[in-house]
Amino acid sequence: MDFFSAVVVMANIKILVGTVYGNALEVAELCRDKLTAKEHQVTLYRQADIEDVMADETEIILVSTSTTGQGEIPDSLLKLYCQLQDRSPVMPEVRYGLIALGDSSYDTYAEAGYLMDALLQKLQLQRIGAPLFIDACETRAPCEEAELWIEAWASQLG
Ligand SMILES: Cc1cc2nc3c(=O)[nH]c(=O)nc-3n(C[C@H](O)[C@H](O)[C@H](O)COP(=O)(O)O)c2cc1C
Repeated sequence: MDFFSAVVVMANIKILVGTVYGNALEVAELCRDKLTAKEHQVTLYRQADIEDVMADETEIILVSTSTTGQGEIPDSLLKLYCQLQDRSPVMPEVRYGLIALGDSSYDTYAEAGYLMDALLQKLQLQRIGAPLFIDACETRAPCEEAELWIEAWASQLG
């Protein structure tokens, strides 16, 4: 890709991480590296704040979150989730993607991912593609699944 093409297609992407044991962070770091290699401007937030999301330059957000407890959002993402719920900023100009890690042996499978998705939909963000669900019962290598998914997701950024 030449310089001019890169400027035309480059997107500002903010990756928001909810993790307890580090799997969702590893997945997020892999996505950051893949998207950066495609010339996008990517920032990874381990503990995002609403101001990070509502900043003018925000075009696309990518949430990578596990589920903890009994279907709870990890603390590293919970602050943002509560802030968005409280302030309810409508953001139809922002697009998003979702990666939800979980374990289908729990009744509350990937609940944090579903909660984030429902909230972002309520705030009128536009989802790009289908979410990726990574089930710990099915794979011990979440990054392998994410690697395939992020390539397909990136091709839909336009
Ligand atoms: C104490 C504990 C509670 C969990 N609770 C849930 C749950 O309610 N629903 C679910 O889908 N997965 C649950 N999981 C599975 C994790 O979401 C899964 O292992 C994930 O890969 C962990 O990602 P992380 O390392 O980013 O935290 C739980 C795991 C642990 C250790």
